[in-house]
Amino acid sequence: MTAEQLRSRLEFYRDLGIEYIYNRIGQTLAESAPEPVPEPVKVAPVTVLPTLEPAGDSLDQIRLDIGECRRCRLAEARHSIVFGSGNEKARIVFVGEGPGADEDEQGLPFVGRAGQLLTQMIDNTAAKEGIPIRRADVYICNVVKCRPPENRTPLPDEMQTCGQFLYRQLLAIRPKAICALGATAMKALLDTKEGITRQRGRWHKWRDIPVMVTYHPSYLLRQYNQQARREAWEDLKTLFHYVYD
Ligand code: URA
Repeated sequence: MTAEQLRSRLEFYRDLGIEYIYNRIGQTLAESAPEPVPEPVKVAPVTVLPTLEPAGDSLDQIRLDIGECRRCRLAEARHSIVFGSGNEKARIVFVGEGPGADEDEQGLPFVGRAGQLLTQMIDNTAAKEGIPIRRADVYICNVVKCRPPENRTPLPDEMQTCGQFLYRQLLAIRPKAICALGATAMKALLDTKEGITRQRGRWHKWRDIPVMVTYHPSYLLRQYNQQARREAWEDLKTLFHYVYD
């Protein structure tokens, strides 16, 4: 293979989103190629933007398109696909990470302990701030729709595969704001390498929709951390006043 052919092969890999080509390929080629083999190139990651914005999209259509999904390994152990629930015309969409055991069993998001805390956070903050909403008025869904085994964090390819449906849900609802619950939702929506503690409590954007990042309720349950709880309540206050004032 000539250097030119190798370059074009590497460009092809780059277009597929492959970031690194390791030396073993170079060595094999070097043995057979008379020409010097260029250093393997490190190419910039390719950002795969969701292309999906079908005209007249709706939550029903998105659920139909998901079908009895087997697009990734999470299908193997799941019991239900947890699509999302709440008001289809919600002004706020809360995005979590992925279903846990209770959600997998019931087919609904945030119905276990973390869900109960989320319900309290929404209902109590709204009541305290004089904002006439309850959990049923918002929409709640997750980055991945199937429970990861042992509640592990979803892997990047699982997030990417399922993320297309999350993006369509957000575009179909077009809320006035999104609340990203925890680091997985934050990573699915924002191009950031910073941690949640730096990003929470501030406004970001997904496309043209404002995004408030806050702690995941499971984190607030695990860490009995009064400070984190206070901060999460503050984040919800900021979110509710922005949307409803
Ligand atoms: N944690 C999540 O991220 N989502 C759920 O639906 C439940 C727990």
